[in-house]
Amino acid sequence: MTSMTPALRNLFLAGAIASLLLARASAAATDPAFVECAACHSTDGTNALGPTLKGIVGRQSASVPDFAYSNAMKRAKLQWTAAELDKYLANPQGVVPGNAMPYAGMPDPNQRKALIAYLSTLK
Ligand code: HEC
Repeated sequence: MTSMTPALRNLFLAGAIASLLLARASAAATDPAFVECAACHSTDGTNALGPTLKGIVGRQSASVPDFAYSNAMKRAKLQWTAAELDKYLANPQGVVPGNAMPYAGMPDPNQRKALIAYLSTLK
């Protein structure tokens, strides 16, 4: 097999770099505030320290079957509409007292709004 000429190799590298950049651009659709959740929550249907957030907007609270929710979360009986998520993320312990999510809350309403818009894309 003949080896690639330098020009061909550069073309090949340019293509590889372009596709890497494209892959990063689509991953960048993740809301920046989601870094505060990603340590505990996946978006792909798998549970971690917290239940997966795939399909969270519109979901019934404590409804991921194989996640061990706290009794407080099981009793909450909420529907995670955008409005309910907004209240919960601002003050998790205020909305579901005694729940087991170790997160103090996100005070900035604009940050919550952008985050919830992102969460609603997780189908
Ligand atoms: C340190 C870990 C941790 C972080 C950080 C965290 N969570 Fe959680 N989250 C949990 C745990 C654990 C639960 C389950 C609580 C329970 O059972 O009481 C939970 C529950 C939830 C629920 C309820 C889910 C359901 O199925 O009813 C939502 C919604 C949620 N988290 C959203 C978020 C969002 C959005 C963020 C980021 C702003 C976040 N969480 C940050 C650990 C975390």
